[in-house]
Amino acid sequence: MTSNAGVPVQTAGLVKRFRSGADRITAVDWLDLDVPAGQAVAVTGPSGSGKSTLLHLIGAIERADGGTITVGGKEVTKLRRAELAAYRRGIGFVFQRYHLLPALTALDNVIVPVLPYRGRGDHAARARELLDAVGLAGRERALPAQLSGGEQQRVGIARALMGEPGLLLADEPTGNLDSATGGQILDLLLRLRDTRGMTVLLATHEQHLAARCDRLIRLSDGTVVEDIDLTDGEDPAATLDRASRLRL
Ligand SMILES: Nc1ncnc2c1ncn2[C@@H]1O[C@H](COP(=O)(O)OP(=O)(O)OP(=O)(O)O)[C@@H](O)[C@H]1O
Ligand SMILES: [Mg+2]
Repeated sequence: MTSNAGVPVQTAGLVKRFRSGADRITAVDWLDLDVPAGQAVAVTGPSGSGKSTLLHLIGAIERADGGTITVGGKEVTKLRRAELAAYRRGIGFVFQRYHLLPALTALDNVIVPVLPYRGRGDHAARARELLDAVGLAGRERALPAQLSGGEQQRVGIARALMGEPGLLLADEPTGNLDSATGGQILDLLLRLRDTRGMTVLLATHEQHLAARCDRLIRLSDGTVVEDIDLTDGEDPAATLDRASRLRL
């Protein structure tokens, strides 16, 4: 398996507003964040606190209204349209709803994002390797409807890895899964982070999953109100106990 260099992520004074009828909502409000390469960060906080918006801004799905985002030393907020497309190809996205195409096999769902770049045949071997890496060897020809929720999310993760991302953005990837399956998906993400060196930002409501990341940030009203290193030499049981006291 190839090992990618993870990329550091920084935001400074990041602001995103939405218009909702006559109202203006500040979804991300002067948010500062500094994530070193290869760190797995749980992004927590109540519904509406800005978790998804933050991931969308970092992934350049949404444009910021103010502040800067720097990923791998590149200022994303300054990129032009053509540069943005190339930037997005280097980011892996995993979503709560897997967004698989129902008429395509698992293998073709993994290949589809890179199809405009060379033909299907050039990518099939790599897609097979990734399906193998996420534990789906032998299921390449299954349609999404023939796969369980956890298996569909594994396809979503393999698809996200197709562009060799240095950064993986996962927005409640276990939100539709039972707790045991959700735990297996997190195992997989952390293992892939270890073997491929990616930086991982994981938005989650589930405290037992958040507690297994390297670091936990909590958002409230679009800004960071808590930032905890979960790797500061404690034994894992103590870390879990401490995390369980956090209001997630
Ligand atoms: N496209 C949009 N148009 C208008 N308002 C939006 C839009 N997207 C998000 N918002 C608002 O921005 C705020 C932050 O939303 P966001 O989806 O980032 O929260 P979240 O922390 O991901 O919540 P959840 O835990 O429910 O997923 C909310 O008040 C939300 O209603
Ligand atoms: Mg969300």
